[in-house]
Amino acid sequence: MTLQLGEVAPNFKADSTDGPLDFYEYLGSSWGVLFSHPADFTPVCTTELGRVAALKPEFENRNTKVIGLSVDGLADHTSWSRDIAETQGTALNFPLIADQNRKIAGTYGMIHPNASSTLTVRSVFIIAPDKTVKLTLTYPASTGRNFDEILRVIDSLQLSAQHSVATPADWKVGDDVIISPSISDDEAASKFPLGWKTLKPYLRITAQPTIN
Ligand code: BEZ
Repeated sequence: MTLQLGEVAPNFKADSTDGPLDFYEYLGSSWGVLFSHPADFTPVCTTELGRVAALKPEFENRNTKVIGLSVDGLADHTSWSRDIAETQGTALNFPLIADQNRKIAGTYGMIHPNASSTLTVRSVFIIAPDKTVKLTLTYPASTGRNFDEILRVIDSLQLSAQHSVATPADWKVGDDVIISPSISDDEAASKFPLGWKTLKPYLRITAQPTIN
């Protein structure tokens, strides 16, 4: 079974394209995005890795480290990374884990036997600095992920971690936000001195506070 929200993401040691690593040491006090790929030398995965490499500055701006995983070996990863650089215009600039024995994939529930008994699905885990899982996503092999959406979720998670707010449907940075229902109007008055609009007692809209 896949990890659930609020659970601690298990630590592991692994070989990667950046050398041997300890997951927790790699993350340090940053946020993390761990994402799996069905296999090396596959077309959709090739585009995904290129896209994440291109977005690396955006992840860094959010104090977030990215790390990929595929159940093929290091020699294949190294050879495939040349194809990624050649075809996607951006070389791999973050570690890709070689999980040949599928140990990490098993621990994280990345293999869904009814989809494939050997390949991982496209899993995404967003992990907070305290190592708890804040988001899980599972995509099929045939659908490449939208990494702008992953960045948007990180923005929302970081905002909610700092302020008593939630973000509405399709929210993006700069849009109004929702005051958490657990906050009374009295508390809201001190937290949101610029005020808010009450559409329903449980639906109070305010300007987005700054994300630090
Ligand atoms: C792909 O990345 O293109 C892919 C991987 C596994 C199965 C199907 C497609």
